[in-house]
Amino acid sequence: MTLPITVVTLFPDMFPGPLDVSIMKRAQDKGLFSLSTVQIRDFAFGKHKTVDDTPYGGGAGMVMRADVVANAIRHAKKESPNAKVVFMSPSGVKFDQNKARELAKHKDGLILLCGHYEGIDDRVLQSEVDEEISIGDYVLSGGELAAMVVVDAVVRNIPESLGNEETLDEESFDIESERGEKLLEYPHYTRPVSWEGQDVPDVLTSGHHKNIEKWRMEKAFEKTKKNRPDLLKG
Ligand code: ADE
Repeated sequence: MTLPITVVTLFPDMFPGPLDVSIMKRAQDKGLFSLSTVQIRDFAFGKHKTVDDTPYGGGAGMVMRADVVANAIRHAKKESPNAKVVFMSPSGVKFDQNKARELAKHKDGLILLCGHYEGIDDRVLQSEVDEEISIGDYVLSGGELAAMVVVDAVVRNIPESLGNEETLDEESFDIESERGEKLLEYPHYTRPVSWEGQDVPDVLTSGHHKNIEKWRMEKAFEKTKKNRPDLLKG
């Protein structure tokens, strides 16, 4: 089954970009998802095809017009009428692994709306958008890079997409402590066993699986305490 993803954007040339290499390329080739774009400007009116205008109430910047953006979204909906419409915005709900898993299950597809300028007329969000998602507490120049991040994270959570389900299970946020805390990944090593004065920890070459598991859990906990103490219950 193919997850159809449509990006509604003023910059369709940015796609597929990184979504056409590596695991994303393989996932597309396997038919796990399809990616298409809709150019918002194609739905603008008049000779100048303007998509934005000055904000009511004054203030800096321009606002994308509700009528133009709504027509672009409605065009995307013709292909996937039951797709979930997600607006990429720094004011959205914070994106995380749980949200990626949830969106990966939405087989009717995703329409990712990318904004530019100061924002989009709020009325189009009221009538056409199901969810507003932020990829983090920083402001990008537009939603396109955020949409790429969301597509990558979502597609990796389509079960067949990695070819190796264990890989997904053992990554950061899939390791849990005994207390049910999500932990970051433990450190990894491969050959050579000794490199520039640093040796691979003995336990990893011991063949003692119980000890290896215990060591990895300890290291995952240490890493989480150092980099993401907010994930621990304290
Ligand atoms: N558009 C601009 N900044 C963004 C962010 N942090 N997340 C999602 N979309 C955005």
